[in-house]
Amino acid sequence: MKAYRASILRFDDHGQAVFDKDGLLVVGFAAGGGCERVLAVGPRDTVAPQFPGIPTEELAGRIIAPGFVDLHVHYPQIDVIGSPAEGLLPWLENYTFPQESRFTDPAHAQAVAQFFMTELLRNGVTTALTFATSHPASVDAFFTEARRRRMRMIGGKVLQDRHSPDGVRDETEQSLIDTEALIGRWHGVDRLGYAITPRFAPSCSAAQLRGAGELAARYPEVWIQSHVAENRDEIAWARELFPQARSYLAVYDDFGLMRRRAIYAHCIHFDDADRALMRDTGAAAAVSPTSNLFLGSGFFDYAGAERTGFAYGLASDVGGGTSLSPFRTMLAAYYVGREGQTKTGISLSPQHLWWQHTAGAAQALGLGGVVGNLQPGCEADFVVLQPRCTALLERRTASARDLDELLFAMIVLGDDRLVERTVIAAGAAS
Ligand code: GUN
Ligand code: ZN
Repeated sequence: MKAYRASILRFDDHGQAVFDKDGLLVVGFAAGGGCERVLAVGPRDTVAPQFPGIPTEELAGRIIAPGFVDLHVHYPQIDVIGSPAEGLLPWLENYTFPQESRFTDPAHAQAVAQFFMTELLRNGVTTALTFATSHPASVDAFFTEARRRRMRMIGGKVLQDRHSPDGVRDETEQSLIDTEALIGRWHGVDRLGYAITPRFAPSCSAAQLRGAGELAARYPEVWIQSHVAENRDEIAWARELFPQARSYLAVYDDFGLMRRRAIYAHCIHFDDADRALMRDTGAAAAVSPTSNLFLGSGFFDYAGAERTGFAYGLASDVGGGTSLSPFRTMLAAYYVGREGQTKTGISLSPQHLWWQHTAGAAQALGLGGVVGNLQPGCEADFVVLQPRCTALLERRTASARDLDELLFAMIVLGDDRLVERTVIAAGAAS
C-alpha cells in the first residue's frame, strides 16, 4: 500500500468533477487479485487517519487526475500526422495506405508500437482503443508492447478485403480466421482486450462484414471498432455500395455490428434515426475533433447526441488527428462545441470536456469504474500534472478562481509538458 498527497481530480457517478485541493490517494492490491487499485481517496484530513503510517509521496503543487482514455487512434499512423489532403478518401489513398503497407514487416511494427506507446504515456494516455493494420503481426507487436508496459489497451487487426490497394488488402476468409485466432491469443490476457475492426463499410465486402458480425455475436465481451459518417464523399460511396441499407450507420446494424462495446469514430453526418440506433443498440461514438477539423470532415453534433442520449467520448484519431495530447483534443472539442453553440446555445464546460476524455470515455467502452477515474476500486492508472511547467501556465493557473478556471487553463494552455509523470498500476504480486 502506498499514498500520494496532491490535489486530486476525479468524477462522481453523474460525471460531476470532485476536486480535493489537499487530497490523498491510497493505492494497493485489493482482495481477489488483479492489478493495483485505488483503495481510498478524498481530503487528506479525512483519509490519512484511516491509514496510519502509510508511506506517502508528497507531490506539493501537483494535480493527480485519472489517466486519459483515447477512444479511437491508429498506432500505425503516427508517421502520417499532418499529411494534408482535400479530404478523407485522397488522404487514405495517398498517405495512409502506403504507410500502413509497411507493416508487412514485423520489425517495423514492433518499432512503431514501442514509439507509439512511449508517446501515449508521455501525453498521459493510459488506455486506448487502437487500430493496428490488416497484418496480424501488427496486432502481435501492439499487444506485446502494451503487455510489457502492463497497460490496459484494446486493439485489433483491420479488416479490408476490397477497395484497398495491394499491401493492405486482406482476403475475406483468412481475415476472419486471423481475427478469431488473435481474439484467442490476446483477449483477456492481463489487461488487454481485442476489438473486431472492420475499417469502414466501403472497404469491406458483405461477406467480410457478415463474418465480423458473427464473431461479434460469438464473443460478446470483445469490442468492435470502425468508422462512420465522417465525410460526405465517403457517405455517398457507402450508400452506393449498400443501397438496401437505411443509412450508412444502418449497414453496420444490418450485419450485427452494433451493440454495447461497439465504438464508431466520427458519427458526424447523422440523422435522428441514426442517433436513436446508437442509443438503442448501446453503441458509442468516438468524437475526434482534431481529425475532423484537419480533414475538413465537419463538426460532431453534441446537442443531437445529448438530445437522443447516446454515449460518446473523446479520441485523438491520430494520424487524421493532429495530436496524441488529450489537452489538444479537449480544446478542439471545445471549438467544435462552440460551432454548434450558435445553433443550440450549448457550450461545453471544462469539467465535461475532461470527463469525455476520462470517465466518460471509459463508460463508453463499458469500463466505467475500471479506468478513467480514481474512485475506490478503479485500477490505479493516473497522471501527475505540474501546473508550473511553463511560465504562462504557472501564472494563469495561479490566478484561477475556481475549478472551472483551473481546468480551462490547463485545457487551453496544456500539452505534454503538463504531464510530469504517468503512473500505470502495478501488476498483481505473485
Ligand atoms: N475511414 C477509413 N479509414 C480511416 C482512417 O484510417 N482514418 C479516418 N479518419 N477515417 C477512416
Ligand atoms: Zn480513425
